[in-house]
Amino acid sequence: MEGRVSLYCLVFTSVATRKIIDEDLKRLLAKSRQNNLALNITGMLLYLDPYFMQILEGDERIVHEKFNIISNNEMHHKVSLIYKQPIEERSFSKWTMGFNKIGIEYFEDAENLIEIYKNDAFKKHPKEVIELLEMFKDETLF
Ligand SMILES: Cc1cc2nc3c(=O)[nH]c(=O)nc-3n(C[C@H](O)[C@H](O)[C@H](O)COP(=O)(O)O)c2cc1C
Repeated sequence: MEGRVSLYCLVFTSVATRKIIDEDLKRLLAKSRQNNLALNITGMLLYLDPYFMQILEGDERIVHEKFNIISNNEMHHKVSLIYKQPIEERSFSKWTMGFNKIGIEYFEDAENLIEIYKNDAFKKHPKEVIELLEMFKDETLF
């Protein structure tokens, strides 16, 4: 329990507007972690070229404000809010922002997921996006 804070999670996907290299991601993560620590936001960012998917956990108002700021970042567009929900406890409490980068070849057996990826249809499949984020919740790439 976190006192009177209404704990909340928000998941979105987006599409990178340009080629993203590791240095971009490292800079983005350093800034994000510093900000999120101060705001008591936890979560996970996944980059599945060219898609970003992210879960933010924290106080409802703070998470929404941060999401609005993130939505305006020119590194990405087509930002789709795919899921938001009050939560009892954090799933990503280890990370002020965990991170992983995966290639579609990672899912060689996951036909369903590959179809979703090819058709840019993550918005219609929130469950799959959440499962994907959950798969990486115990590790961070950098
Ligand atoms: C995919 C993506 C995810 C982001 N995630 C976060 C985040 O979790 N926390 C954060 O503070 N900024 C995040 N940002 C960066 C924000 O868009 C924004 O640049 C930053 O919050 C501004 O911080 P500043 O006002 O302290 O300079 C993200 C940006 C992108 C493109």
